[in-house]
Amino acid sequence: MVTIRVPLVEQRDASYDILIGSGLVPQLDTILKQYCPAAAYAIISDSQVAKLYGEDLLKRLSASGYRAQLLTFPAGEWNKTRDTWAALSDQMLAAHFGRDCAVIAVGGGVVNDVAGFVAATYLRGVPLVQVPTSLLAMIDSSIGGKTGVDVPAGKNLLGAFHQPRVVVADPELLGSLSSVQLAAGLAEAVKHGVIADADYFAFLEREYAAIFAKHAPALERVVRRSVEIKAEVVAQDEREKGKRAILNFGHTVGHAIEATSKYEVMHGEAVAIGMVYEGRAAPSARRTSRWQPGGRSDRGDARGQEGPGGRDPAGPAARHRHSPR
Ligand SMILES: NC(=O)c1ccc[n+]([C@@H]2O[C@H](COP(=O)([O-])OP(=O)(O)OC[C@H]3O[C@@H](n4cnc5c(N)ncnc54)[C@H](O)[C@@H]3O)[C@@H](O)[C@H]2O)c1
Ligand SMILES: [Zn+2]
Repeated sequence: MVTIRVPLVEQRDASYDILIGSGLVPQLDTILKQYCPAAAYAIISDSQVAKLYGEDLLKRLSASGYRAQLLTFPAGEWNKTRDTWAALSDQMLAAHFGRDCAVIAVGGGVVNDVAGFVAATYLRGVPLVQVPTSLLAMIDSSIGGKTGVDVPAGKNLLGAFHQPRVVVADPELLGSLSSVQLAAGLAEAVKHGVIADADYFAFLEREYAAIFAKHAPALERVVRRSVEIKAEVVAQDEREKGKRAILNFGHTVGHAIEATSKYEVMHGEAVAIGMVYEGRAAPSARRTSRWQPGGRSDRGDARGQEGPGGRDPAGPAARHRHSPR
């Protein structure tokens, strides 16, 4: 036998900037020039967001002399599929996009994930720019490089890590978002508060009326703080080998709810329900994980922390609020 080793040590700087600010999207042509120059741009969006922002963006880029094309698919989680990924990739091939192109994902989390996966796989990978348009996408799905599609066996089971060159989050775009979608996005913000920042959690509780009324300072604070938290976690563990799993709080149960409801329950709603259930399960999981062989366990201590009923009626978030940061 002969063994020939291929010595490859990966050294790359995949760092990127997340630009947050009102009125940024109309300046995308100059942002692209600085952050992601390319010979041609495939703007990928869903049917709803394409009408609101995609078509306008295409006009602007074309007017600035860029070669750009808008590719769309029907809105909805049920379209986050291999078929959509294949259709978009085929359209790019038919339009002769080469290796020197870039993909611009304009939309909510579904667009972020599908367009990101197209970019990750097209001609073995082309640069990606994320332009999130839903609150959930701005504070969560556009950051961190997770891309992919749902399959009958479950959510997000096929995909790739593919970090964007830049993320452009313009809170003005949230003006057209329904309050139901806003609430769904806020579930991920609540998650960020629970896992990382008690003061932020308290702010969300205190200012929810201003956030729902889309007051610019309140919304901008949500986008900024959540992005900071997600970026910090991702920077510590890009490929989810450990710490990044903390971002999955509420998602094990949430994904099951989404799938069994055939995606009638929105991702954020499912995560909100999932956080309640996983939060309630946490004390017993903690007891189980502290069990030690030889008959000793610290069950008593854990119950002591929870109060006489064995379960904190205020829930984990409330406990967290009072715990040190
Ligand atoms: N990759 C990640 O790290 C990550 C993280 C969290 C969630 N996700 C994924 O994100 C998806 C959920 O994202 P979502 O809630 O944004 O869903 P979505 O993309 O389906 O958007 C929700 C709806 O809002 C519409 N919409 C988006 N922006 C709008 C705007 N500005 N104005 C009006 N309508 C607008 C869309 O057309 C869609 O109908 C799930 O598939 C989830 O798995 C991925
Ligand atoms: Zn999520």
